[in-house]
Amino acid sequence: MRHFIEPNSFSLEEQLALLDLADRMEADPAPYAHLCDGRILATLFYEPSTRTRLSFESAMLRLGGKTLGFAGAQLSSASKGETVEDTARVVSNYADVIAMRHPKEGAPLRASLSARVPVINAGDGGHAHPSQTMIDLMTIRQRKGRLDHLTIGFCGDLKFGRTVHSLTAALSQFEGNRFVFISPEDLRLPQYVKNESLEPTHQIYKETADLEAELPHLDVLYMTRIQQERFFNEEEYLRLKGCYQLDEALLQKAPQDMPVLHPLPRIDEIKKDVDDDPRAAYFDQVHNGVYIRMAIILALLDIPDPVTGKKVLEA
Ligand code: CP
Repeated sequence: MRHFIEPNSFSLEEQLALLDLADRMEADPAPYAHLCDGRILATLFYEPSTRTRLSFESAMLRLGGKTLGFAGAQLSSASKGETVEDTARVVSNYADVIAMRHPKEGAPLRASLSARVPVINAGDGGHAHPSQTMIDLMTIRQRKGRLDHLTIGFCGDLKFGRTVHSLTAALSQFEGNRFVFISPEDLRLPQYVKNESLEPTHQIYKETADLEAELPHLDVLYMTRIQQERFFNEEEYLRLKGCYQLDEALLQKAPQDMPVLHPLPRIDEIKKDVDDDPRAAYFDQVHNGVYIRMAIILALLDIPDPVTGKKVLEA
């Protein structure tokens, strides 16, 4: 049994097979509509979510399965002190696969150690968000035609932004990528992400605070919101919020083929006037989310693609 806790829970070949499967399902979902008949997905969300929870549920419903779960720890026995280990073991009796979001880093990993069914990390604190990463890779590949030899700018809250940490890890697997981390000094990429993802693969990266200066040189721009819920100090958040605001005027400095990604939700870091620009790719990400999550569910349930006869995961 396999779990999906970090992007590298799957090998690079498996990640690429997952992206290919999502592309096929997007092109023609019909052959996949009943593959999960009789199966159940549990969504255990201890933290707020719109996209991740609803798209996992939509994915399972589109595969013919059913869903159950809770949204908010106060509605579960976590409010009485139950551990994620016990909850995962219990829910393994009710569902065939679990998607868990939790404010504590490492909680889905802990759950996976006692679960009797596959566990998907749907975002754990400021750590990782691997299903979002697969969405980001799918969107970049659709827009740029490749995942290597790209200059990727990450902008905003790089300290707490789990999607940045996971996407950096994933893009580090490909040759020739260059990383530009654009943030205030206080929101720089954590050292552990550099140690785990960038240093071992000798990736070229730079850190700067100047978005405008970097824009003309980027192939992809990944914007993020300042993560208010992760700050210990409200004053610190108020000082940093609004530090980057991409509008159509600023976007004129970027290449015409530079997609703008954002995991959403946004606050004020991308102005509404960017939405109509052909470079805006963040609603494509939302669209791709359903197919990626369908592919993750099929992969973990070890169900072969009826079109190719192949499974995503090796043994
Ligand atoms: N991108 C993302 O994780 O959004 P939600 O917090 O709405 O799930």
